[in-house]
Amino acid sequence: MYNENPNIVICNHPLLKHKITMLRSKETGTNEFRAIVEEIAMLIGYEALRDLELTEVAVETPIETAMCPVIAGKKQAIVPILRAGLGMVGGMLKLMPAAKVGHIGLYRDEVTFEPHEYYCKLPTAIDQRKIFVVDPMLATGGSAISAIDFIKQHGGKDITFLCVIAAPEGLEKLASAHPDLKIFVGNLDRCLNENAYICPGLGDAGDRIFGTK
Ligand code: PRP
Ligand code: URA
Repeated sequence: MYNENPNIVICNHPLLKHKITMLRSKETGTNEFRAIVEEIAMLIGYEALRDLELTEVAVETPIETAMCPVIAGKKQAIVPILRAGLGMVGGMLKLMPAAKVGHIGLYRDEVTFEPHEYYCKLPTAIDQRKIFVVDPMLATGGSAISAIDFIKQHGGKDITFLCVIAAPEGLEKLASAHPDLKIFVGNLDRCLNENAYICPGLGDAGDRIFGTK
């Protein structure tokens, strides 16, 4: 499926794989975990921004005036799914400092695993922006599907989803619910367990980023 669907990219850079392994270890503490998630967001973001449009401007080098490429003016939005998605915002902002940031607050019911919405705010003119939805974990896919539904209901069209780890079940569900969505995955893990946690995964991403339990 993943080889056939051009909208899904499973990233394969060795630096990314190395950093994801560091995240998985239960010995990795909050401080280090947070820093690595930010670095990983930059590495996945680098892949996801590959098709940014360029335009040309005149630049005077010490030698001559030349027409040189710069990122075209299309507006961008980064939309983390709270809480854990917040950990990826800093890395994405390093790549796109001018991007606006929206927030979608969802938590997963511990019994039904269904997402519940508690806060949503998107940047203005969302219909004209290139939107990057970020969340480290794609498990059942429920949270990501709800977040993309919400953005589309508010006019968002050009949407890319970035996650650090995905379960095959969630990836398939998300791609079927939103066939137009571009999806970038740091690693595709084995499966979900009976509590809908990703195996081998890294545990609860929000708790590990914020030091809660
Ligand atoms: C986690 C994670 C995703 C969601 C993934 O958030 O950050 O948003 O679970 O699971 P799903 O694909 O099955 O919906 P959680 O609901 O634990 O909230 P938190 O980030 O506040 O900890
Ligand atoms: N949310 C997480 O934070 N981790 C999982 O493994 C699944 C959902």
